Amino acid sequence: MFRVLITRELLGTPGFYSSLPRITEKVMFPFSNSAMTNVMLPRVVMCIVRERLTSKIYRLDKSLGEKPIDNVGTLQLFILVIVVYSCRVIVVTGAAGYIGSHVCKELLDIGHSVIAIDNLSTGKHQFLDQRALFYKGNIQNRDFLISTLSKFERGSIKGVIHLAGLKFASESVKNPLSYYETNSSGTQMILSVMQDFDIQNVVFSSSCSVYGDVFAQKPVSESENLKPISPYGKSKLFAESFIQDAVNSLGFRAISLRYFNVAGGTPGVSCDLSRFNIFPNLFRAATDELQFDVYGNQYETQDGTCVRDYVDVRLLANAHIFCLESLLTGRDLDLVYNLGSGVGNSVYEIIRVVSEVTGIEIKAKLKAPRLGDPSQILADVTKAKRDLAWNHSISLEEIVESGWNSWKYFRDRIV
Ligand SMILES: NC(=O)c1ccc[n+]([C@@H]2O[C@H](COP(=O)([O-])OP(=O)(O)OC[C@H]3O[C@@H](n4cnc5c(N)ncnc54)[C@H](O)[C@@H]3O)[C@@H](O)[C@H]2O)c1
Repeated sequence: MFRVLITRELLGTPGFYSSLPRITEKVMFPFSNSAMTNVMLPRVVMCIVRERLTSKIYRLDKSLGEKPIDNVGTLQLFILVIVVYSCRVIVVTGAAGYIGSHVCKELLDIGHSVIAIDNLSTGKHQFLDQRALFYKGNIQNRDFLISTLSKFERGSIKGVIHLAGLKFASESVKNPLSYYETNSSGTQMILSVMQDFDIQNVVFSSSCSVYGDVFAQKPVSESENLKPISPYGKSKLFAESFIQDAVNSLGFRAISLRYFNVAGGTPGVSCDLSRFNIFPNLFRAATDELQFDVYGNQYETQDGTCVRDYVDVRLLANAHIFCLESLLTGRDLDLVYNLGSGVGNSVYEIIRVVSEVTGIEIKAKLKAPRLGDPSQILADVTKAKRDLAWNHSISLEEIVESGWNSWKYFRDRIV
């Protein structure tokens, strides 16, 4: 066993972490075998260097770089006094997905260690961050989860960001049971294994589909009645309820984030490849000279086409880190938050911006409206602004540009 003393006093310029409580704690280095330690230690030191901390630590990093470490005994010579209040071991499920890959990047960039879990059913190997420790498997498989988490020192894993799931309302109508199995039973399994391992902090990917068909008149706040209409929405609501019960009865600390329509991307991280989402279909139409179907233009909106709330994937990923840090530091937050832009954009507006950004004229074809498509879906984000420092200060043009760049980056590598 190797011990790392974490002293906040050694932080030269705490920067991002300056708001954290002053604390000195002794923790186990998360990995008991030397191979793991060798993998993780340089990362820990690199994260410290990246945060521009003390030169003392920097020299330590240099000597580590020159001397390969091959066993714990050698490590002990260094008597590591490392400033890693920021370094936690976090489990991310759905880590190879569109949003999960952005969450992993954010966590790793600020020095956390990530245990990335994904069965690659819709996720891509190319979206996995090389710095994460990847375990391929199903979140419904208890044995897989237990054997994965058992590789790490008990108590070292501080939280779970649970994104693994299925996400298409229309698909869920055709195949409801797989949605309940993955989204509801899968979440129950994650909570149960968390309980076994004494991990109590969880941030969960929920969806605005838990609200059902209440959007037509106004932006929807978290206090709205929850009447999901699709099995997808119901499966997320069940999952939220399981989490709420774990908070009420088992001492869990949790936040469920109800995303609206996630858009944008990052070249080298991931892009949205979904068959049912507007942006990938528009980018496909642009690159493959296909026509783009517009379902109805007689809605009661500014130009007659449906209006949706598009939230930037990078800001969304950031909000997960904020929530996780809040749970870890005991900040008092609510159980659920909407995450949207708070602004609505129509289909025609999106087509115009995609044409401008790509420089390719999109050929739109009008089709009959789809059953059950609300005219407007808009988030009330008052609570997220108040509690999560949520500020969706990014334009639709910027979102489209990042989505287009990441689409082009991954198109030849994956599609
Ligand atoms: N993209 C959106 O607009 C949006 C909106 C609301 C909510 N969400 C939710 O956010 C989460 C992430 O969405 P995304 O857009 O990144 O989708 P995604 O399909 O890209 O990512 C989901 C990931 O979960 C993995 N996965 C699925 N089932 C699994 C299982 N049983 N075990 C292990 N891994 C499994 C997939 O392989 C994939 O990598 C989902 O839970 C989704 O419901 C997404």
